[in-house]
Amino acid sequence: MAHITASVYTSHVPAIGVALDLGKTQEPYWQPLFAGYEPSKQWMKDNKPDVVFLVYNDHATAFSLEVIPTFAIGCAAEFEPADEGWGPRPVPKVIGHPELAAHIAQSVIQQDFDLTIVNKMPVDHGLTVPLSLMCGEQDPKTGAWPCPVIPFHVNVVQYPVPSGRRCFALGQAIRRAVESFDEPLKVQIWGTGGMSHQLQGARAGLINRAWDNAWLDQLIADPKGCSEVPHIDYVREAGSEGIELVMWLIARGAMADVAGGPAPTVKHRFYHVPASNTAVGHLILENNI
Ligand code: DHB
Ligand code: FE
Repeated sequence: MAHITASVYTSHVPAIGVALDLGKTQEPYWQPLFAGYEPSKQWMKDNKPDVVFLVYNDHATAFSLEVIPTFAIGCAAEFEPADEGWGPRPVPKVIGHPELAAHIAQSVIQQDFDLTIVNKMPVDHGLTVPLSLMCGEQDPKTGAWPCPVIPFHVNVVQYPVPSGRRCFALGQAIRRAVESFDEPLKVQIWGTGGMSHQLQGARAGLINRAWDNAWLDQLIADPKGCSEVPHIDYVREAGSEGIELVMWLIARGAMADVAGGPAPTVKHRFYHVPASNTAVGHLILENNI
């Protein structure tokens, strides 16, 4: 059977992609940020999964305001990097895993989560920046990401957005779905977005280190309690775009301890301010099964 080996959590700031693509990673502003992901790239090489289930939000790129799926699973064989206004990022296309994606859709919908099935979807910075951070730079033509990726979109852009509680329960359903797939695949689940940031309005530039770090502590040690944090706390404490953090609860809900197994091991934890207008948080949790 397939199983979830680990979960990875990271911000997906678009300026990080720009810094990578323009060769600025060693500039003084960016160097400390990229240094924080060096252990992650090594860990990724040492723990190569067969598939990454990548939870992110489309930022009005594939989905305009005309259609807003709350949860959407990418079932296609491949996904092109999106043009977000200045051309697609020079990164390889994303190879999907249609069989596992279709199985997860079947299982999770039968568990009463109403997923939207997506068979064509360009993927924006929410997905490609985490891949670059974890897997390093790849030649867009001759290179390839290390494994297939199932993109999973969550609406955190246009209210009403799903609660942390709903996301946490969905993660548990995804775990059951993965564990009922009849192939011995090692699957990682990633949650992206956050941490504190507000991109517009009177509080643009808001960063809340203390809240971010307390939230990380709780996400690790008391995920159920963390899932009860209401929307208003994210918006008040972590800024309007801090609400992206509910996506991390999907990945956390899929870990073994939530289903009664052993606590995960924290393989890496990193926090850095600033990246553009955003606080960057990053965690790697490994299942002990
Ligand atoms: C920015 C955009 C994002 O989607 C995000 O998660 C963080 C920052 C930005 O435009 O700076
Ligand atoms: Fe974002």
